[in-house]
Amino acid sequence: MAKVVLITGSNSGIGKALAQTYYQQGWRVGCVARSKEKLENTITEIKENFPRSSGELLPLIADVSDWKASKKAVDKLLKEWGELHVVICNAGISMRANAADTSLDVFHKLMDVNFFGVVHFFKACIDELRKTRGSFVAISSMQGLFSTQLRSGYAAAKHAVQGFMDSVRIEEKNVHVLTVSPGFVKTNVAVNALLADGTQKGSSDKAIESGLDPNVVAKKIAVAIRKRKRDLYPAGFKEKFALFLSKVSPKLLDKILRSVSVT
Ligand SMILES: NC(=O)c1ccc[n+]([C@@H]2O[C@H](COP(=O)([O-])OP(=O)(O)OC[C@H]3O[C@@H](n4cnc5c(N)ncnc54)[C@H](OP(=O)(O)O)[C@@H]3O)[C@@H](O)[C@H]2O)c1
Repeated sequence: MAKVVLITGSNSGIGKALAQTYYQQGWRVGCVARSKEKLENTITEIKENFPRSSGELLPLIADVSDWKASKKAVDKLLKEWGELHVVICNAGISMRANAADTSLDVFHKLMDVNFFGVVHFFKACIDELRKTRGSFVAISSMQGLFSTQLRSGYAAAKHAVQGFMDSVRIEEKNVHVLTVSPGFVKTNVAVNALLADGTQKGSSDKAIESGLDPNVVAKKIAVAIRKRKRDLYPAGFKEKFALFLSKVSPKLLDKILRSVSVT
């Protein structure tokens, strides 16, 4: 039987590209998303793109910040397919606002989706992944390794993801744990980003528009999962250089970041 992967946030960007990559390779793909209608369209589109694939796509509706809905989605997948080999916690939401201006509700939402969304799927899937010696994957961010302006709550949530993944990697000897820390990727992440009052930004950023192709990133993630890598950094030179500076000269990085635009 084909292997089973569950991907959260599979209606858009990196998650949709991951669903397409695994479907193309003949996997059984559990697609978690909030909008049923949008997910049906995504599934139809992927099937049309690869009409000869032997893969399967299963729609699973859940808001990842909701534990009960997340658990229900995993239970539905297990009822249908009975096993699970790879879980990719990809669903996420960013921000574009100074910390001092940002409402508390926005900070809570960023944590609920980006951090608790990972914890919920870990808790719901870990027993199954132990059985298959499978992979647990989180799509974190370069902002999980160092922070820039206008991303305080997002960077905090992604730093929390990194810490969580580092702990469970040590605890779960038989489960492969991969943290993916992308730089700028050309998706709807900026359009969907929250402003200080919780409304959506509604437009993209120059940095995101010149970012990596999500399909290229998805293929790199699939290879890293197959090779059971610990970390993956799909990012451009600028982000990788900033990561290097954050280790060797964080003060210099602060100074540079103050003088550049990160949107
Ligand atoms: N693009 C980048 O430059 C970049 C860089 C570093 C890290 N990342 C991370 O990569 C991951 C994927 O983001 P993306 O770039 O592909 O952005 P995206 O196009 O905005 O996709 C994000 C996905 O997450 C889903 N989502 C958001 N909140 C959710 C919730 N509460 N429950 C369930 N699903 C939810 C969205 O669903 P809807 O379609 O319903 O909104 C969407 O499908 C995120 O974790 C992001 O932080 C992205």
